[in-house]
Amino acid sequence: LENGVARTPPMGWNTWNTFGCNISEQLIRQTADAMVANGMAARGYQYVVVDDCWFDPERDSQGNLRAHPTRFPSGMKALGDYLHGKGLKFGLYQVPAAKTCAQYFNAFPGSTGSKGHEEQDARQFAAWGVDYLKYDWCSPQGSIDDQVRDFAKMRDALAATGRPIVYSINPNSIHAKTGPLRDWGDVANMWRTTEDITNRWDTGSDGNSFMGVKNIIDWTVPLASYARPGGFNDPDMMEVGNGGMTDTEQRSHFAMWAVMASPLIAGNDVRNASAATLSILNNSDLIAVNQDPLGLQGVQVSSDGTRRVLAKRLANGDVAVAMLNQGNSTTTISTTASTIGKSGSSFTLRDLWTGATSTSTGTISASVPAHGTAVFRVSGGGNTPLPTTFALRSASAGR
Ligand code: DGJ
Repeated sequence: LENGVARTPPMGWNTWNTFGCNISEQLIRQTADAMVANGMAARGYQYVVVDDCWFDPERDSQGNLRAHPTRFPSGMKALGDYLHGKGLKFGLYQVPAAKTCAQYFNAFPGSTGSKGHEEQDARQFAAWGVDYLKYDWCSPQGSIDDQVRDFAKMRDALAATGRPIVYSINPNSIHAKTGPLRDWGDVANMWRTTEDITNRWDTGSDGNSFMGVKNIIDWTVPLASYARPGGFNDPDMMEVGNGGMTDTEQRSHFAMWAVMASPLIAGNDVRNASAATLSILNNSDLIAVNQDPLGLQGVQVSSDGTRRVLAKRLANGDVAVAMLNQGNSTTTISTTASTIGKSGSSFTLRDLWTGATSTSTGTISASVPAHGTAVFRVSGGGNTPLPTTFALRSASAGR
């Protein structure tokens, strides 16, 4: 969406993965403080997004949304001011329906969705200093045309406020996996590619309403051609630091999100993040790959069903290459400079996990543990075109 924001994938933190509805203004403030103290803010994690359950279950007599009275007693304007005072940005959640997802599934009372209140709510968000809106289709009902209409309505309402607001949508509930596929770049700055992430590597690809990290990668890789500055595929908030995956799997998760130009929205309790977790989330070399100004999503250049290789062209001519081992034992993964869009005969490879550099005349190879991802930044030589379009999965091929 050409609204001046999200020229690179948005970075930040969201309440949902760890806290669900169990949120409060203390939690948000403590998290913001932690993000400043632990280096995340300095590395670019700036949007602090309060997901479902932040609101009073009743609108006021004029139909205005209000903060939940006991969870956010100081109000949302005060919360936005606090975040802005820390150099951070403020994100909130709403839905294009009568009930938010938590209201729909009965975890939270009321019917305070934005349907029929789009302009009023957009003005309220702008007045509170909101910089990011997550707008979540949480209903089994509706055609893709209904979704386009309702998501576009809030897009236009946000634009009418004059405030730059990142617009993050979730059309996942029905179409993103099963089709028809759609390029949402005319509607939003980022759009979910699957159902909700869960804190596991592999849940299997079919019949799950929660997706493992490996499975989300399977669904998101084919969508590479949709990504560009202002619009990115969103494979969901991260589960790094949440304990359900090995260190190797969490590194793969982060490396693949980086190379897929995915929004980097942390989903852990950053107040208590371990050094190991921060060494992943704060990997500056991978963040630089993710935030590269070309805004390209890495394209798949080879896959044998076990070994997947992605290449992401970068603005200075370097190419980032990710080599993911989806299998259950250590294997060697190899590619070549020409396969990843490099011409020439002498290259420097920087391993973005260890920082070690090596030289190559063209072969790029690594021993990769089960569920691991080797990731290098390749420099030297010239550039040849990478595939710009990638066969999109068809609706029927999905599942
Ligand atoms: C469904 C979304 O996919 C989640 O990320 C989260 O926003 C919940 N709804 C909130 O109810």
